[in-house]
Amino acid sequence: MSRNPYLPYPARIEEAVVENESRDIKTFRLAFEDPGSAAEFRYLPGQFAELSLPGVGEAPFGIASSPTESDRLLFSVKRVGVFTAELHSLEPGAPIGVRGPLGRPFPWERMSGKNLLVIGGGFAFTTLRALIKQVLHPDQRAHFGSLLVIYGARTPGELMYGNELAEWQKRSDIEVHLTVDNAANGWSQHVGVVPAVLEELKPSPKNALAVVCGPPIMLKFTLLSLTKLGFPDDAVILSLEMRMKCGVGKCGRCNIGGKYVCKDGPVFTRQELASLPAEY
Ligand SMILES: Cc1cc2nc3c(=O)[nH]c(=O)nc-3n(C[C@H](O)[C@H](O)[C@H](O)COP(=O)(O)OP(=O)(O)OC[C@H]3O[C@@H](n4cnc5c(N)ncnc54)[C@H](O)[C@@H]3O)c2cc1C
Ligand code: FES
Repeated sequence: MSRNPYLPYPARIEEAVVENESRDIKTFRLAFEDPGSAAEFRYLPGQFAELSLPGVGEAPFGIASSPTESDRLLFSVKRVGVFTAELHSLEPGAPIGVRGPLGRPFPWERMSGKNLLVIGGGFAFTTLRALIKQVLHPDQRAHFGSLLVIYGARTPGELMYGNELAEWQKRSDIEVHLTVDNAANGWSQHVGVVPAVLEELKPSPKNALAVVCGPPIMLKFTLLSLTKLGFPDDAVILSLEMRMKCGVGKCGRCNIGGKYVCKDGPVFTRQELASLPAEY
């Protein structure tokens, strides 16, 4: 019998790490109360889960860990309102519910054999981290071509996963370009918006797929740049963050035209989105 999709797995917070200088993004490492739940909770990069706190509510978050990191389940959460403020106030050991995994992941099969261009802006880099970790896993890396990452934030202190970014920059099987709007003393990498760096690097669209996550303004101009570079709409993959409630295609909170972002997405190709009303 399949599991009730409204039933969260009981879990607890194992660790909470501050990710940025403004201290409003934390990465939470969660552990299931029942170790058997970890085997049931099978996910792929690009999927999300509804996290719940007793007496507070529930909210959707992209899964920031990769299934190849079998010892951890990560969520990076920006403090913006009621739920996220409560979550940020919790200490390790606090109980939390995890409902999911939900939604359509990045198209893993389609990505196989392709050169991957991963483009992220701000704190929407969470599921892209999951994707990169999965591609870099020794069992997986040979299934993909080149891996080019462009990640931008307002300032160096707002880039998440600083240690991992530095490690990736030392490797020869991934090329990572970091850019900021406002450089600080000692910053020697790109300065400028993500689309400008993309156009400077000019990655070839040949046998390539671009995966893009970021704030709406970044998405808008990055998509224009990808068109300029010759990436067709079906080679551009995006992840949307509409408001959601049920997360399983029942309540109608997240629909765009005839599609439910929670169930048919949140991952869509640009071609799929072109046929929908521009509500995202
Ligand atoms: C599929 C999906 C994946 C997500 N992944 C992440 C993630 O990895 N990390 C993360 O920090 N957040 C993520 N979000 C956004 C997250 O769900 C919201 O920030 C959260 O629900 C806010 O709850 P709150 O009670 O703290 O804020 P509220 O008190 O409900 O709102 C506070 C402010 O945040 C705005 N807001 C609330 N929800 C959203 C939303 N979905 N999109 C834009 N603005 C919103 C409100 O308009 C308001 O201004 C994701 C959302 C979706 C749908
Ligand atoms: S959140 Fe209920 S239908 Fe998508």
